[in-house]
Amino acid sequence: MSVILKCDSISKAFPGVQALDNVQFELCRGEIHALCGENGAGKSTLIKIITGIYQKDSGNISFNGKNIHYKSAQECRGAGIALIPQEIQLAETLTVAENILMTNYPLKRGIVSWKEMYKKTGELQKRLGRTALSFRPDETVKNLNMGQKQLVEIMKAISMDVKIIAFDEPTSSLSEEETESMFALVKQLTVEGVSIIYVSHRLAEIFRICDRVSVFKDGKYVGTRDTGAVTPRDIITMMVGRDIKLYERTEQKETGEAVLEVKNLKWKNKVKNLSFTLNKGEILGMFGIVGSGRTEMARALFGIEAKEDGEVYIRGQQVNIKSPEDAVKLGMGFVTEDRRSEGLSLVAGVAENVTLPFFRKFLRAGILNFRKEHAEVQRFIDLLNIKTPSLETKTENLSGGNQQKIVIAKWIGADSSIFIFDEPTRGIDVGAKSEIYRLMDELSRKGNSIIMISSELPEIQTMSDRLLVFKDGEIVKEFTDVFALGEEQILEYAIRS
Ligand SMILES: Nc1ncnc2c1ncn2[C@@H]1O[C@H](COP(=O)(O)OP(=O)(O)OP(=O)(O)O)[C@@H](O)[C@H]1O
Ligand SMILES: [Mg+2]
Repeated sequence: MSVILKCDSISKAFPGVQALDNVQFELCRGEIHALCGENGAGKSTLIKIITGIYQKDSGNISFNGKNIHYKSAQECRGAGIALIPQEIQLAETLTVAENILMTNYPLKRGIVSWKEMYKKTGELQKRLGRTALSFRPDETVKNLNMGQKQLVEIMKAISMDVKIIAFDEPTSSLSEEETESMFALVKQLTVEGVSIIYVSHRLAEIFRICDRVSVFKDGKYVGTRDTGAVTPRDIITMMVGRDIKLYERTEQKETGEAVLEVKNLKWKNKVKNLSFTLNKGEILGMFGIVGSGRTEMARALFGIEAKEDGEVYIRGQQVNIKSPEDAVKLGMGFVTEDRRSEGLSLVAGVAENVTLPFFRKFLRAGILNFRKEHAEVQRFIDLLNIKTPSLETKTENLSGGNQQKIVIAKWIGADSSIFIFDEPTRGIDVGAKSEIYRLMDELSRKGNSIIMISSELPEIQTMSDRLLVFKDGEIVKEFTDVFALGEEQILEYAIRS
């Protein structure tokens, strides 16, 4: 296959970190090429340089045999190189069609042709299939769910004559079905001659759809392999630099009395009369497809949304949770799925974010003991292997996975006894994933109780003592013997119509 893009000796520094150090990368025409590496390895930085969002400090990029020096993402897009970013960046108040065609409005005698715009958008939706057809071109973007927004980003990229698309963890917020249609689309694009760069932590996906994989570690290039010639284990070893022990559960554990009881919880038509109990020392899994009401349930329970009906009991006492503050006072902690808008204060530093729910611990006569605070934060940084130049670094400058680890540290550090983890390992590398599983296991064995919401079947099966399957805002099935289940049995309830 002929080479379409070649990066040589690319370096890029940010204050306090060498994000990329003399790396190389080569992409062939029609190829799907994966980028792998731990959180903070430099994957997003590399594709942001390739797609014109960041400028490299040094090195060379050639595209179709010619050196390129694009100065902006717009210029890159014009040349046919587009990015589907890790964190979706659409104009929320504009319509789908406006977002897709924002930079090239079809004009008719100098006037925007809405008819043309909707027609063009409709054609793109048809190309993407069923999920893309589930919303209208004139729908406001803020009304779409994560999966649908992802598709809008993709349509935006392919609305122009595109040669290279870089995907940054595209499936992390998609349901199984959406993931399948995205894979089909990616394959179709390669048949049309488009070349794909594919960043993901999901090795199974990479081995399924990618031709080659390049591995990075701490900003350095490690190597490139044909996916047909290696195993996922080989790639993990290249990523981590050693062989790591993945978390494995060996036994089903006994749990204690009920600590949380929810009766007839109701919120809009997303949460319909939900009742369940959570026991002491239990990890209660909640599985369902994206949009099945699990997150909405958690938000209503935690006081982020005002529930419309229902009773909540903690250790037998009825409680009235009206705000997240109330929930925290009752010993609850919530690792949110949407880290950027809810989990973190992006402009605040790492330490401030971690200790936000429990900084009072470090107050003496109203004065914050920084040394104590920082020692505690450092403990989490080591434990979860968080890559940050300093404790004061603004969290918006951390890589996606490291931001997620901060959200987890924040709640584990607080003295919570009831935890809600909503998609806790989204965007987290394999090594850290195992650490988070171990931590959850340890928390529960110490008598804490955990609700774990996840759309990843293997993960939910490994972790749950008991499992509730959600569909359309209701619990459709409870499994107590999670260990013995097959994946198909669980999926059957989640998607059965
Ligand atoms: N805009 C920025 N300002 C400062 N530092 C940054 C910025 N963007 C990235 N970094 C730093 O550069 C390093 C590489 O980050 P990058 O986002 O490329 O990692 P990644 O491989 O994509 O990780 P993840 O898997 O967590 O998404 C990290 O240490 C990160 O903190
Ligand atoms: Mg990244």
